[in-house]
Order: sequence, then C-alpha cells, then structure tokens
Amino acid sequence: MTKGGETPVPLLTPYTLGKFHLSHRIVLAPLTRTRSYNFVPQPHGAVYYSQRATKDAFLIGEASGVSTTAQGYPHTPGIWTREQVEAWKPIVNGVHEKGAIFFCQLWHAGRVSKYEFQPEGKPPISCTDKRLRKDISNDPAAADKYPPPRRLNTHEIPIIVNDFKIAARNAMEAGFDGVEIHAGNGYLLDQFLKDKVNDRDDKYGGNLENRCRFPLEVVKAVADEIGADRVGVRLSPFADYNDCEDTDPQGLGIYMAESLNQLGILYCHMIEPRMVTQFNKSDTTKWSLMPIRKVFKGTFIVAGGYDRTEGNRAIESGAADLVAYGRLFLANPDLPKRFELNVDEYNHPDPTTFYSHDPVLGYTDYPFLQNTPCTSV
Ligand code: PHB
Repeated sequence: MTKGGETPVPLLTPYTLGKFHLSHRIVLAPLTRTRSYNFVPQPHGAVYYSQRATKDAFLIGEASGVSTTAQGYPHTPGIWTREQVEAWKPIVNGVHEKGAIFFCQLWHAGRVSKYEFQPEGKPPISCTDKRLRKDISNDPAAADKYPPPRRLNTHEIPIIVNDFKIAARNAMEAGFDGVEIHAGNGYLLDQFLKDKVNDRDDKYGGNLENRCRFPLEVVKAVADEIGADRVGVRLSPFADYNDCEDTDPQGLGIYMAESLNQLGILYCHMIEPRMVTQFNKSDTTKWSLMPIRKVFKGTFIVAGGYDRTEGNRAIESGAADLVAYGRLFLANPDLPKRFELNVDEYNHPDPTTFYSHDPVLGYTDYPFLQNTPCTSV
C-alpha cells in the first residue's frame, strides 16, 4: 500500500538499472520497422522513438547491423558507417530530450540474409553452410528465399568480434547510453549457440562451451570497449525461429547466464519459451525462464506477448525486473500512461504495416489517448 492507501502498480514502480534510474519497468522492446532507407536511420525515426519515450524510461532501439555483411532485410538501420552514426544522433537526442535511457541493439543476421543484402552479392556468412529452411514467418516457401551461407573460417571470427566492438563504440558516439547484443531469434550469434545449426568442428563448435565461445567473445569485447555496465544481451534459447533450435535450451540458457555473470554485464533480456513463433504464444509450455532467472545476477528483462496483468504479475512475483513490450508498445505510443490509467482500450497493432517502409503509416500515426488527466508518466 502507498501512503494514500492505494496499491502500487508493480510495472509503475521505480527500478535501478545499474547506473540508470528508471521511473517504471515498461521497456520498449527492440522492434524492426524497416524505415531506415538504404540502412541509414531517417528523421521519422526521431518522431517514432520520442513518441514512446517518457521520463526515466528504458527504450531499446531496433536491431542495427554491425557491418556490411550483417543485414538481412531491406531498410533496417546500421551502425557501421559515419553517415549512419550521424543519422542516429538526432534520434537519440529526441529520446534524451524526453528524459529516457536509450540502448542500441547490435545485430548480425548471419544466414538469415540474401545475396542482395551482401557486399558484391556474395553468400551470407554463418557458422555453417547449411541453408535456412524456415524463417520467422514459418513460410514453407522460405527454403527458396535464403541462399546457402558460407561457413566462416576460424581465423575470420575475430574480425566479426571486432565489428561488434566498433559498432558499440559507434553507438556511444551516436549518444546511446549503452548497447544490447542480439544473440537470439536465429541470427548470427544464435546460429553459433544452437546445436541444430552449429556443425563446426573447431573451437567454435561441438560442445556447449565451444558453441557459446563466439557470442561470449563478442560480449567481452563490447564490454571491454564501453563498460560492462552499459551492455545487455538478448537471448531466446527456447525458440526455433529462423530454423535455429537447440536440443537442451535450458542448459544453454543457464550456461550463458553463468558466463554473463562472469562478464558482469548489466542485463539479460530473454524471450519467453511460450512464444512458439515470434508473434504467437502457446498456452502450454513445459519450460520456464525461472531457472535462468535464478542464476543470472544482473537485471532480468522478459519479453513475449505480455499484457498489463501478466507484466504486473511477473514483477510482483520476482520472475522479472523489467518487462519488454513489443507489439503493444508499437501500437500504443503512450503505453505507460495507458497502464497507469488502467484503460480498457488499446490500439490494435496492424501486422500489415509492421515492416512496410512508409514514414508515417503504421509507424508514427498510432493515436495517443485524448484528454487524459495529467499524470506522472
Ligand atoms: C528479431 O529479433 O526477431 C529481428 C531482428 C531484426 C530484424 C527482424 C527481426 O530485422
């Protein structure tokens, strides 16, 4: 109970995220929006992110490619060129003007890419030369869409580690408060982690320790570059998106949590096992994030189809410190306020415009609440 007698809403309680003071626990999840033309962030990105920023809130930017080989979709942003760094600056400024904390998600698509996104039309790179058979859309025709990747040589791995390090440095130069390393959802780092994809016989393949080596080298290099207190990692051990699955997801998650403890990073951001696809949750899953939550010593962020009630429950029960909202935040730019007022009405996300390239439609035109009383968020 508060002094006034009302019960506090767990999602709206403050939280200390390392050096950052947060006024609430509702995080903007990293959401690909494909409005960064030719991989360069655009001015409309500043409108989109600042719409979703509130004082002392935590926002994670959409996946941003770390190098020329990192991209897998049209018009996703990058953070490897000077032009991209300069283009991010006004977007980051817009978020900071609202008083929020903003992390840049660093991403490499690996084999979830096509010739057209690769330098000189070469094959995408991966831990393997096995082709992806099923992408996030679960489209059976996906097998035809993705070319066979080129297996990275052992001596090339440090080059990719260095790309992440430079991208992290660039993110800091652009003004971001930190970075989230994307090691989930079937992209490059996840391809190394998961034993149904990683078929290497060098020190980056085979047993669990070897499969985790490259992602952990990336995390260490980035932490050494910008400080572990500015680094988070996103993981989805239980997911099979992008044809990327592991036979012992819990073991994988626990090993990564233990290893990340040793690196002292700020947070671990986990996708819920119930998310059977990126967009659909199942009512039943035998898995839970709790064993991983118990091992990880830093801040634990959960994501995957949460609503207000479930988010409050996760915070109250100790299952999570923060809850990331994707589609609900995409469609409701004033989500923290809607949660505070406990409104009945939410805007519905329109999947047909998630990945369109329009600078406004389905991007910055979701309505805010009208005539709401003046409140704290
Ligand atoms: C994802 O994390 O699922 C993701 C990342 C980058 C994209 C699309 C989806 O461009």
